[in-house]
Amino acid sequence: MIYVTIDGPAGSGKSSVSQNLAKKLGFEHLDTGALYRAAAFLWIHSKKDLKSEEFLKMMDNTSFNLTNNSALFVNGKRLGNEIRTPEVGKVVSKLAEVPQIREIITKKTREIADNKRIVVEGRDIGTVVLPNACVKIFLTASVNERACRRYEDYKSRGVDIQFEEVVKEIKFRDEMDSTRKVAPLKPAKNAIIFSTDGLTLEQVVSELYDLIVEKVKKC
Ligand code: DC
Repeated sequence: MIYVTIDGPAGSGKSSVSQNLAKKLGFEHLDTGALYRAAAFLWIHSKKDLKSEEFLKMMDNTSFNLTNNSALFVNGKRLGNEIRTPEVGKVVSKLAEVPQIREIITKKTREIADNKRIVVEGRDIGTVVLPNACVKIFLTASVNERACRRYEDYKSRGVDIQFEEVVKEIKFRDEMDSTRKVAPLKPAKNAIIFSTDGLTLEQVVSELYDLIVEKVKKC
């Protein structure tokens, strides 16, 4: 097994970078943000109290599976864009603050990653979920650049939202993610901190690929 972790704030380019890196390395890929978003989606539709035993049990019994081509299935159903809406975006940080939910998602992430060569992206993967990972990367980028990326992503999917609202969402999530008590967003001590400002996706992937290949030789 070889774990490569990619952590960083919302809109830092984690998903595109992780997907492309995994493809280039011939590794599988898991986006743990999708697990939190799926949990938020289930919560919105369950109408149960977030910390209730009923909801926690429902989460614990939820199955998350990764297929060979890194598609994520929740309770046997392939996850789609229903988890990438502003509605889910607004509540997901609240859910990600709940220690019991983090515990469940951490356990499920470890089960999925077990014995694989895999790139796992999130906020606390290098620090909490897979602290013994072979390579740890922490991606950063300015708020403006991250908001531009997220705005373009919403627009390409036909979501009706103002740029200022996206900036607000990004700043709010940064604050929530980095100040929460459990597993806050921060680089692991031995992480490579990499800024994507002003770089194309191809440049980021190419530079990180070379760094990872070198590191993996020593794992
Ligand atoms: O990467 P994303 O924006 O899709 O993540 C959605 C939310 O999930 C984000 O607010 C932070 C949370 N998250 C987390 O707390 N820990 C992770 N490992 C991954 C995501």
